Amino acid sequence: MAQGKDPWIEASDVIPMFPTLVCKVQLEAQLYQAINARILDALAEMRRDLPGLARGEGWQSEQTLHQREELSELVCCINKAARSVLQFLRIGYDAFEITGCWANVLAKGAAHRAHTHPNNFLSGVYYVRTQSGADTINFHDPRGQTGIIRPPVTELTAENTDQVVVRVKNGTLLLFPAYLQHSVDANASEEERVSVSFNIMFSGFTENLSKPLW
Ligand SMILES: [Fe+2]
Repeated sequence: MAQGKDPWIEASDVIPMFPTLVCKVQLEAQLYQAINARILDALAEMRRDLPGLARGEGWQSEQTLHQREELSELVCCINKAARSVLQFLRIGYDAFEITGCWANVLAKGAAHRAHTHPNNFLSGVYYVRTQSGADTINFHDPRGQTGIIRPPVTELTAENTDQVVVRVKNGTLLLFPAYLQHSVDANASEEERVSVSFNIMFSGFTENLSKPLW
C-alpha cells in the first residue's frame, strides 16, 4: 500500500495472530536487593580462584544453580512467574520443573550471540547487575521466512521489525518461549553485567524425551 493520508485499511481491520509473548516482571526493591546480594556472594565464592575477566570475556557458572540454597528465593519467584504464564496461556499440565539455571557474567565488550534453548518450553532471565550500556536484551523474529524479503520501512514499528530490544533493570525477571531467539549486545559499560538464566520444561517430558539443552 502506498504511503498517504487516507489509508484504506485501518488498525481496527488488522487481526493480530500467533503473538510471541515475553513476560516481564519487576520484583520490588526490598525483595530483589536481598536476592541479588545472596547471588552476588555465591558467585564471588564460585569465582574466587578464577582469574578476573578480560575485556570482551564472559563467564558462565554450572547449570545447577537452582539446586543451591542461596538461590531459593529466586527459584520461588521463577516458579510463581512460570505458573502464572502457563495459566495465562491456558496450558494444561501435571508438573513443570526448572531443568537448568546458570549465571552469566559479561565483562566490558562481551556479548552473547543469538541462540535458543532447545527441549524446553519456557526460558527466562533474571537480572542481578545491570547499568546503563548493559541493560538490554534483543529478541529476534521467530518467523524465519519473513527475512526472505525485507523492504525498506518508513518507520520502525512493532508490525515490521525483526528485532525487539527489551530494557531491563536489577530485579527484572523475563520469561519467554524457549524457541525464541535472543542475543545480548556487547557490554558498553565499565562494570560486569550479571544475570541468571533458566529453562523450564514439563516434568513428564524431561523423563521421556531428549535432555534439555542450554
Ligand atoms: Fe539464552
